[in-house]
Amino acid sequence: MQTIQLDTVDSTNKYALAHLDELADRAVVTAEEQTAGRGRLNRIWLSPRGENIYCSIILKEQKNNPLLTILAALAAAQTIRSYGLAARIKWPNDVLVEGKKICGVLAESNSQGLVIGLGVNVNMSAENLAALDQPATSLRAETGQIHDREKFLRELLEKFFALYEQAQNAGFAKLVETWQNEIDLIGKKVKIQTVQQEFYGTVIQVDKAGALLVATAQGVEKVLAGDVHVV
Ligand code: BTN
Repeated sequence: MQTIQLDTVDSTNKYALAHLDELADRAVVTAEEQTAGRGRLNRIWLSPRGENIYCSIILKEQKNNPLLTILAALAAAQTIRSYGLAARIKWPNDVLVEGKKICGVLAESNSQGLVIGLGVNVNMSAENLAALDQPATSLRAETGQIHDREKFLRELLEKFFALYEQAQNAGFAKLVETWQNEIDLIGKKVKIQTVQQEFYGTVIQVDKAGALLVATAQGVEKVLAGDVHVV
């Protein structure tokens, strides 16, 4: 596997997108710190030096496909669970432990392929966690131990590529079913916030593309990105 280990970079996703033509399919870009880490919905991803995992996986044969973001979140949740923590996925692809965010996924693409960025709070200090604008945690905060980031990354990538192979061979149906059970939103009344709008409704189901179908007074809305709050 081609691995590019950067010391400091603005964003591993931005770097990967800018270098897609030189990077191999399935290459991975990591960094010790990001000075302008990107989050979903134009947010900032705080990326202090040496504490966490900041990585971008390059899939040159793919376009932006929400199912691959879901796949990444499932791989991260499985890896975190293997450390004895009760990781859950919050729609669409945040990984939480005890209601606090431990991992985020951001997929970005251009004409040359797809980049899946994962940020996992492995050894983030209590002080840096407290500086975040939403409840967050780390493997260290939950277990009281410092963890080997390289080992965690190896395990995460193994799980990611195993699920990816499975999806390439057998399709995404099983993956979507697992994800639908994990997000636990069917039948729930929710508030959806996207970059453009905010609305209330009841979640009917997820479709096979990974979109949330929400019944509202105006009809059924199909939602692929945003934030959800159970009301
Ligand atoms: C989120 O908002 O939940 C998504 C966060 C994604 C952060 C990762 S860290 C590695 C990669 N590079 C970035 O700039 N962002 C992603």
